[in-house]
Amino acid sequence: MAVDHIITKRFNIVDAHTLDGYLASGGYRGLRRALEMVPSDVHEEVKTASLLGRGGAGFPAGVKWGFCPPGVWPRYLVVNGDESEPGTYKDRLLMERDPHQLIEGCLIASYALGLSQCFLYVRGEMAEAQERVAAALNEAYEAGYIGKNICGTDFSVDIVLHWGAGAYIVGEETALLESLEGRRGMPRLKPPAFPASFGLYGKPTIVNNVETLSNLPWIIEHGGAAFAELGGEQSTGTRMFAVSGHVKRPGVYEVEFGVTTFREIIYADEYAGGIAGGRELKCFIPGGASAPWFYEEHLDLPLDKATVDQAGSMLGSGAIVVMDETTDAVAACHNLVRFFARESCGKCTPCREGTAWMEQILSRVLHRQARPDDLDLLLDICDNISPGFAWPPKMTTICPLGPSAVSPVISALGRFKDEFETYIAQSQARPRIPVASG
Ligand SMILES: Cc1cc2nc3c(=O)[nH]c(=O)nc-3n(C[C@H](O)[C@H](O)[C@H](O)COP(=O)(O)O)c2cc1C
Ligand code: SF4
Repeated sequence: MAVDHIITKRFNIVDAHTLDGYLASGGYRGLRRALEMVPSDVHEEVKTASLLGRGGAGFPAGVKWGFCPPGVWPRYLVVNGDESEPGTYKDRLLMERDPHQLIEGCLIASYALGLSQCFLYVRGEMAEAQERVAAALNEAYEAGYIGKNICGTDFSVDIVLHWGAGAYIVGEETALLESLEGRRGMPRLKPPAFPASFGLYGKPTIVNNVETLSNLPWIIEHGGAAFAELGGEQSTGTRMFAVSGHVKRPGVYEVEFGVTTFREIIYADEYAGGIAGGRELKCFIPGGASAPWFYEEHLDLPLDKATVDQAGSMLGSGAIVVMDETTDAVAACHNLVRFFARESCGKCTPCREGTAWMEQILSRVLHRQARPDDLDLLLDICDNISPGFAWPPKMTTICPLGPSAVSPVISALGRFKDEFETYIAQSQARPRIPVASG
């Protein structure tokens, strides 16, 4: 089967975000097909597709849906559109350019899961995405695609749009549920209870990412087997990657999942086009700010979940951040740690205190005000958050945000320790002054 764009195929159609534009380009065919099937068969197609979740953890959607305890209602579908990881902006584009595709995906998932209430949570700062999704919801309600007796069947579902307030941690699924319930967006401890069994309002809840759900119309229209034929053995279909940093053509590219390599997506003219200014690569982050860094020797790895996991990092949120040879590794590390320190929700001590201390130490180093034992202290704090620096990380925290702050430190110190040592040596030659954090 020829590889084509699946979820970005309407990105160049000017009015694809309207119902007319969507219908004219084949929209809602997947839903109509789903409604001719029994819900369990729709679920089977998604399992056959082996669709991995696109929000970060890469868990198979069909398997997760199966964790809803049978016979417990109401149950909910929650769409995670909070996307705030630095360098990640694929879900925003999906919501702005093709909101009906996402809505159709929500309807198909709701039908397969036998539920009648869906919540679509969009990050606070994404004004255009919110407007486009709101307008598309209104159109779909009016045309009978959402609401009572959809397309003349006895399937009924409501979709509620919820705007977040712009906190990164609310992307973590249990924090998102807390936020939806009207509380502070702070993660819940899991295990014991996972959202599929005890989620929103204590009811079974499936949380899926925007890109995950946007794949469903194509999967149901063409069949799960056709989707599984694309891509790698386990990383099936296509996937969107946002490439940013020191490249000639930063942007979001949909590529065959599990097959396309980092070298291709960073250097090929049809993608990011190589390092800007003819400079050399220093390192790149393969999957969002939380991911351990990769280097020249990783360029020929395919964008495949299992391969990247095995190589000691992750594809995470689908953000590839490229740093050229002129990048200051200490400054890059400080920048990332500062993000996590500011976004820590403060619920657990190792993350609340640790990330703030890490940021302060890195700030001291960067301002050439470091103390001789600052690197040891930094590593000690990291070890308190993520003991042993293992991959995948062990954690003393409630959620993975704490260990995410450790990733850039271990990466930068592991490969570019000399740059830290130069700053520390220069610090000794300067008078010590108080350094403001940030
Ligand atoms: C700190 C943190 C932030 C996250 N942010 C997002 C996010 O913005 N969007 C998202 O879909 N998943 C995010 N996730 C992952 C979600 O917890 C969850 O795994 C995902 O929404 C499930 O959807 P999927 O199975 O379709 O990937 C985040 C996780 C963590 C720990
Ligand atoms: S690890 Fe950080 S963000 Fe996560 S619950 Fe603890 S304090 Fe909050």
